[in-house]
Amino acid sequence: MRQRLAVGNWKMHGNLPDNLALLDKVAVAAGGLSRAVVAVCVPFPYLAQAQSALTGSKAAWGAQNVSQHRKGAFTGEVSAGMLREFGCRYVLVGHSERRQLFGENDATVALKTAAVLSAGMTPIVCVGETLAEREAGITEEVVGRQLGVVADGIRAEGLQVSILAYEPVWAIGTGKTATPQQAQAVHAYLRDFLGRRDTALAASMPILYGGSVKAANAAELFGMRDVDGGLIGGAALVAEEFIAICQAADG
Ligand code: 13P
Repeated sequence: MRQRLAVGNWKMHGNLPDNLALLDKVAVAAGGLSRAVVAVCVPFPYLAQAQSALTGSKAAWGAQNVSQHRKGAFTGEVSAGMLREFGCRYVLVGHSERRQLFGENDATVALKTAAVLSAGMTPIVCVGETLAEREAGITEEVVGRQLGVVADGIRAEGLQVSILAYEPVWAIGTGKTATPQQAQAVHAYLRDFLGRRDTALAASMPILYGGSVKAANAAELFGMRDVDGGLIGGAALVAEEFIAICQAADG
């Protein structure tokens, strides 16, 4: 059976007191789940706080970005080794906000994924099409290209210890969730794409859906055959919402 996950992406939100209240609730809730893994990807300055609040609980934590470089004169960047020192298990790579707002391309995303793997953490590789791309009928071409470049970079050995997230750009923060059928269709395409390289890998790869996941729609989305949980933005900042989503992932 494939791993099920609920991963919160806090984006650039939070402050120390609010974080603590949220992290404490997430820690307790994670303890009550039977199979789903719960994680929160927090802004860099809050990693130490997440580590201190979640150590000893069943919840994991991670980062939202990483440098592709190991070390050196890269002002403002954070290396995978540094993230590892703060106990991160997961690192998001290739989030659409990184691609669109910070100019990350497929090649950079592939290098970042490799950097996360070399530091012994799990990359959560994000792919997704824009509204214009969906309307032009090139969703599969776009997500296939995005995944293909990463897959070529890290090969089957790397993919085996990675997680994939499908986040249609038009559904992020818009309240416009993909229908369970729309999500399932792209997830099935991605699994099939991996299956052309390695069938066992395709069968075991967790593929998360992200884009306006809420407590109210999580169970239906996560009930689709190829949807193994969620990558949650806005709703991950509200304890009750996020916990209900984690429970839906636990199924
Ligand atoms: P929302 O859940 O706020 O739409 O964000 C999704 C996302 O980008 C998670 O990485």
